[in-house]
Amino acid sequence: MKTLITGGTVVNASGPFDADVLIKGESIAGLASPGSETALSWKDGADRVLDATGQYVIPGAIDAHTHMEMPFGGTFSADTFETGTRAAAFGGTTTIIDFAIQSKGKSLRSGLDDWFAKAEGNCATDYAFHMIVSDVNKQSLDEMDLLVDEGIASFKLFMAYPGVFYSTDGEILQAMQRASLNGATIMMHAENGIAIDVLVAQALERGESDPRFHGATRPSILEGEATHRAIQLAQVAGSPLYIVHLSAREALEQVVGARDRGQNVFAETCPQYLFLSEADLAREGFEGAKFVCSPPLRDSSHQIDLWRGLRTDDLSVVSTDHCPFCFKEQKELGVGNFSKIPNGMPGVEHRLDLIFQGVEMGEISLARWVDVTSTTPARMFGLFPRKGLIAPGCDADLVLYDPNFTHTFSSATHHMDVDYSAYEGMKVKGKATTILSRGQILVENDNYVGTPGAGKFLKRGLNGLLR
Ligand code: URP
Ligand code: ZN
Ligand code: ZN
Repeated sequence: MKTLITGGTVVNASGPFDADVLIKGESIAGLASPGSETALSWKDGADRVLDATGQYVIPGAIDAHTHMEMPFGGTFSADTFETGTRAAAFGGTTTIIDFAIQSKGKSLRSGLDDWFAKAEGNCATDYAFHMIVSDVNKQSLDEMDLLVDEGIASFKLFMAYPGVFYSTDGEILQAMQRASLNGATIMMHAENGIAIDVLVAQALERGESDPRFHGATRPSILEGEATHRAIQLAQVAGSPLYIVHLSAREALEQVVGARDRGQNVFAETCPQYLFLSEADLAREGFEGAKFVCSPPLRDSSHQIDLWRGLRTDDLSVVSTDHCPFCFKEQKELGVGNFSKIPNGMPGVEHRLDLIFQGVEMGEISLARWVDVTSTTPARMFGLFPRKGLIAPGCDADLVLYDPNFTHTFSSATHHMDVDYSAYEGMKVKGKATTILSRGQILVENDNYVGTPGAGKFLKRGLNGLLR
């Protein structure tokens, strides 16, 4: 099967240029100047021609941080791999990297097997896994080596959530030492969970039970402190470190310092920290529960620093941390006690559009938009150049993106299996119109036309950004 995409502006992380793109089977076969002899001959031989006039043609977006069907706070995140990857596809994301979880007392292997069972045969997009290590011991440290060989070359540890996912500094150091030997990247949830738990108990004792106290008890200084500590531990161990869901300027300052010193420290932020704020957490009644995630939404002044960090590559990636819980019955578990609200927000469908608003607002360039949503995640997590690039030989994961299409986010029209939108009523410019995964169209004319379960597991290599 030969597909030709004509008339579009190809945007790679290196910049935009006009080109027609030929796809053969699952791969990109070539790029040619529009109207050139080569392009005209391709048109004659094509089985299908997609007209991208007036649109950008970008590499399929990669969401390096999702939680489908994740157990949390006595319930499960609402999207399955089937519904979540379909929603991702609608938004132009053609690869997700989800977090498999090691339960306390169990092996990494059994956690990973659970995640394979959930994902296999159900995904619309390609998928890969990171591994959450919640029980650092001799066996799990040994298993890390085996997982790296299987393409799971990144491990998330938590400085938050004592009694659930939390690891002590000593345990973190040991996991980092192992990563320094086997080439893996350590991903860190950097919040001082021990101090936060004290603040939470004190707030509840004072009768402060509304969702806004979720934010008040997780101050940004405790994210900065944990980020600093993680960086120091990684330096002692000599391992690469990737700070997940960075929300605050205090944490960013630590990342900037480490990067300036030449340390292999990277960080991602998420759209919710760029577009939402603690004012949303403080909405009337229990509405704020829709915005409970950790780290919490900050005061909006942090957004200026985060956009600056994205511009200057102090922040390398934008991921969603998609972890949706329905307002009814799930978020409502925390009525009268904010600490019982399941942590997480929906977003896998909207990342490309939201970050494109950064281009519209003049915060980042077009090329940087592609870089932070596709190319750098591919390089960071061992998927490059198969993913994250439009060039001969790469997977034909391609998005036709109409920069002038305006639309409004709403739970009435989104495809995520959750009963609210964190961005309800927000009008945005730009939309993914046609989405291809390895040459197959997944979405066109607002319809999902993919084959359910066609998404493949991706065995990842090591971090390609180490210096
Ligand atoms: O609130 C969040 N972020 N929920 C998902 C779990 C995590 O820490 O990433
Ligand atoms: Zn986390
Ligand atoms: Zn997460």
